[in-house]
Amino acid sequence: MRRLFHGLLVAAAVLCATSAPAVDAPAVPDTLAQRIAACTSCHGEHGEGGDNGFNPRLAGKPAGYLHRQMQDFQRGLRHYDIMEYMVAPLTDAYMREIAEYFASQDVPYAPHPVPPTTPAAMARGERLATQGDPSRGVPACMACHGPNLTGVQPDTPGLVGLPYDYISAQLGAWRTDTRSTVAPDCMATIAGRLSDSDISAVAAWLAQRPVPADAHAEPAGSVKPPLHCGVLGG
Ligand code: HEC
Ligand code: HEC
Repeated sequence: MRRLFHGLLVAAAVLCATSAPAVDAPAVPDTLAQRIAACTSCHGEHGEGGDNGFNPRLAGKPAGYLHRQMQDFQRGLRHYDIMEYMVAPLTDAYMREIAEYFASQDVPYAPHPVPPTTPAAMARGERLATQGDPSRGVPACMACHGPNLTGVQPDTPGLVGLPYDYISAQLGAWRTDTRSTVAPDCMATIAGRLSDSDISAVAAWLAQRPVPADAHAEPAGSVKPPLHCGVLGG
């Protein structure tokens, strides 16, 4: 018995020795998904967004939009320390590849809490989103973000399924120059024309809105913004 056991040990040792080259082979395949593991630790495995309502969803957002955000962090137009650090070493072609990857991910939207909002504020939020406020030169959010607010290819993101905290933080960021983009920076103009209570109202209305069954961005050219961003209301 002892001899049999010893024999097995030797056999096992030989097996291990002969399979050694396999052990040396890379344990994890070198795929894009694996290379961007640092990104998905915050943005979710498929870019579905973090649980905290602040690490944004990337999944399904138009590729041109995602690519430009990475460029904007890189060229100091959009500020957020960790993001500026993460994209600093990436080439433009690689950022485009990452953008295409997240744009093609199709994962469900998680629900997020909406802070208590008065009916009057909800009505104001709905009005801004669907009709705008011509007296302040604010076009309807739908005029550019699409009739279902699901975004438009290739550059306009959807506003559905985004948490209240993220929407209000971004609108605030345009007002403080923490976020900007290459001209025409439509959102800087629009955010500058919204009051603080408008920002809370529109963020609450957008965040409570159920995500439509088809949340994909509208095809390029199918939504024509009524005004050019540079001349919104003059
Ligand atoms: C520590 C967490 C963290 C890590 C790691 C991280 N991000 Fe982010 N990312 C964020 C946060 C938070 C924001 C929103 C910043 C803001 O408010 O402007 C963001 C924003 C973005 C945006 C803009 C999203 C939008 O809808 O406007 C893109 C694109 C992005 N990240 C890609 C990446 C990529 C690619 C990597 C890896 C190379 C990465 N992130 C790593 C936290 C992270
Ligand atoms: C004239 C066209 C236009 C109108 C009108 C417009 N937007 Fe935008 N919006 C854009 C574009 C283009 C972007 C992408 C900006 C960028 O690349 O930095 C954007 C981006 C955003 C984002 C960032 C989303 C993300 O994932 O980070 C938010 C939030 C937003 N808009 C909210 C609004 C709200 C609220 C309204 C209505 C009050 C509105 N927008 C009206 C064109 C518009």
